[in-house]
Amino acid sequence: MKDLKSNEGVGVGRVKLLGCRSDRVKKALAIVGSPRRNKNTEKIVDRIVEGLLEKDIIVKKVNLKDLKITPCTACGYCENEGSCIIDDDMQNLYKDFDESDIIILGSPVYFNTVSTYVKAMIDRCQMFWSSKYVLNKSVIDANKQRQGVFVAVGGAPYTKGQFDACVPVVDLFFKSINTKYSYNILLSNTDKVDITKRQDILIEAQRIGSELVK
Ligand SMILES: Cc1cc2nc3c(=O)[nH]c(=O)nc-3n(C[C@H](O)[C@H](O)[C@H](O)COP(=O)(O)O)c2cc1C
Repeated sequence: MKDLKSNEGVGVGRVKLLGCRSDRVKKALAIVGSPRRNKNTEKIVDRIVEGLLEKDIIVKKVNLKDLKITPCTACGYCENEGSCIIDDDMQNLYKDFDESDIIILGSPVYFNTVSTYVKAMIDRCQMFWSSKYVLNKSVIDANKQRQGVFVAVGGAPYTKGQFDACVPVVDLFFKSINTKYSYNILLSNTDKVDITKRQDILIEAQRIGSELVK
């Protein structure tokens, strides 16, 4: 995994299609897990998306705050059916994960881990796990070569281990959706030095976006 760290700190209405031409083959899904619009998490995700769009791929962006994602109730339905019984916006995201070649996930660090919005989405991916390891019949195309990028921003100054409770969670999420965890962007100190003052990180984010598409 390529890792970008920095000591400085290191919707339809809901869903937007940011680039769309019928001859484009690759698809990306960009997920923003901060409830704050256009702040650090979203700005970094947006720059990765800019890099992707340079390479003419279809990008769908979602802000989890705009979606209805009910927490997993551990009802056990997925262990029998390989799908989730809860009828909410996760049903569209399940399809998006399957159809995407690139998944960008952005989260603020809350209490040393991902935001509740992100964790609720990840827990609902248990149905992928059940389909593979309980039912032996994956409901996500396991042969597709997906790449994943994780963006995390922490408001506090950098401390060792600041992101250590995020990364394994996201690693398991990417595994559940058969995605290779390819890049991290982990940025600290955003409550003091916000992303608009970190052009280096934004430039790197855009470069990562453009590098993702071979
Ligand atoms: C509920 C809550 C918990 C937070 N916990 C942490 C934390 O554990 N570590 C940290 O570095 N920053 C923490 N922060 C600060 C956020 O990570 C910081 O404000 C970040 O910039 C938010 O991302 P955004 O700017 O994209 O909204 C917390 C903020 C909130 C609201």
